[in-house]
Amino acid sequence: TQGVSSAASDVYKRQLPEMLRPLVRPRRLRTTPAMRRMVAETRVSPAQLMLPAFVAEGLTEPREISAMPGQYQHTLDSIKKLAEQAAEAGIAGIDLFGVPTEKDEIGSQAWNPEGILNKGIAAVRDAVGDDLVICTDTCLDEFTSHGHCGALTEDGRVDNDATLPLYAAMAVSQARAGAHVVSPSGMMDGQIAVIREALDDAGFTDVAILAYSAKYASAFFGPFREAVDCSLKGDRKAYQQDPANRIEGMRETLLDVAEGADMVMVKPASHYLDVLSDVAAEVTIPVAAYQVSGEYAMLESAAAKGWIDRRRCISESLTSIVRAGADIVLTYWAIEAAGWPREEF
Ligand code: PBG
Repeated sequence: TQGVSSAASDVYKRQLPEMLRPLVRPRRLRTTPAMRRMVAETRVSPAQLMLPAFVAEGLTEPREISAMPGQYQHTLDSIKKLAEQAAEAGIAGIDLFGVPTEKDEIGSQAWNPEGILNKGIAAVRDAVGDDLVICTDTCLDEFTSHGHCGALTEDGRVDNDATLPLYAAMAVSQARAGAHVVSPSGMMDGQIAVIREALDDAGFTDVAILAYSAKYASAFFGPFREAVDCSLKGDRKAYQQDPANRIEGMRETLLDVAEGADMVMVKPASHYLDVLSDVAAEVTIPVAAYQVSGEYAMLESAAAKGWIDRRRCISESLTSIVRAGADIVLTYWAIEAAGWPREEF
């Protein structure tokens, strides 16, 4: 009690009356690192982490994304190396996004077998085979000249039903290129059923669908727009969900389950842990959560300023997402975090 005034130190020394002494002491289980490790309810394993990664057309070397320091637009060559590193790190898989040089109204490079995303899938499959789960984004926003996730009507709205066959063509081309999992993220109604049918008709009954089920119109996707050179002006509020809506997240999820999704996803992760927890309690298939570009950028930038402990904040963030119910976490830190000692999680 050094430095404490003598009156205060008298208070400090006074014995608690017998009847007020706690009988139950949760602190017993926090006394040593070994004790805490033994009773930890949540463990984050590399086997559940998936790395989102970008492959870009026309690059001669990887280009760092300024709002996502440490993340790159990759060449076909460097994406292969990244996939090999991911396999070595023992993470679950990789989720590929393409950045084409040519965009048009309907995003037709998306289902071109020679399009950059399909070439990227093939390159990665060639490099790692079945050692990683090769997952790919099945959405048109990187490929359309207007940056929306689907084809537009004449008056400029996203046309749900005209977009569905485009997603089907894209998914089949991705399966053909070697994807184990396709992951529709465009929030069109009925997209899972249409993609499932198209994959089955083309003979890809074993290719799984990871459905972005509860996906919100989030400002935390900001840095991603730079990552994929997205040309969007405006927003996606007419198809992605309102951040105010929790029950609707469940509605969207149950629809995707009924349409044949093999796994569902909640996105973003950190600010939607309530939705994630609802979904995890309700469905009987694996649940993924996507720690998005803005979540990455926030922690990286605060850490770069020395305002937070980078590693502890990243592991706390991943732990919270798993604690809320995610079986799989998509995170830009997947490879790095897989290398950390388990007790740091
Ligand atoms: C759509 C898509 C987006 C992200 C993943 N898939 C962007 C959007 O919906 O606007 C965002 C991922 C991130 O922010 O890390 N293809």
